[in-house]
Amino acid sequence: MDEGLKRRALRLLTYGVYVVGVAAPQGRNAFTADWVMQVSFQPPLVAVAVRKGTTSHAWLLAGRAFSVNILEQGQKDLAARFFRPLHRVGDKLADVDYFVERTGCPILRDALAWFECELLDAHDSGDHTLAVGRVVEAGVHRDGEPLTLRETGWYYGG
Ligand SMILES: Cc1cc2nc3c(=O)[nH]c(=O)nc-3n(C[C@H](O)[C@H](O)[C@H](O)COP(=O)(O)O)c2cc1C
Repeated sequence: MDEGLKRRALRLLTYGVYVVGVAAPQGRNAFTADWVMQVSFQPPLVAVAVRKGTTSHAWLLAGRAFSVNILEQGQKDLAARFFRPLHRVGDKLADVDYFVERTGCPILRDALAWFECELLDAHDSGDHTLAVGRVVEAGVHRDGEPLTLRETGWYYGG
């Protein structure tokens, strides 16, 4: 396989940009993610691929829950606050306005909409773990268009 063509083709997959929140006995954290998708209607299930070795990976598995914050077009700056590792930048949620609902995972007040999941399954998936969660609560803060990876000009994929 041609490595360059593989990267180019995979980077043509379309994605949204989300802030995924986690909560564990150790604390709360959140990270920017695009590998997020619904995988069942009934029960409502959503899968997130979480990079092994990150704080979020450990805390998601420890807390067995995650939230997905759907950002709005124009909120690239908000997304950019969450793609650096907690172990390097410290508490990313320190000056972010958030609240918690059922799972304790952070829900950003500025996001367009959100839902939270209880972890159902964690599948080994190469350098990531595919976390499949059951949606247990959801909310919509306002109407609007969701932020896409295309709009940010960033890549996470390939
Ligand atoms: C556009 C973009 C999309 C990303 N998508 C994911 C993703 O789907 N899954 C993931 O584990 N990390 C993803 N990342 C990387 C994480 O945001 C990054 O590893 C972060 O530092 C993890 O936070 P933590 O170290 O505090 O846990 C993405 C980064 C960017 C910039």
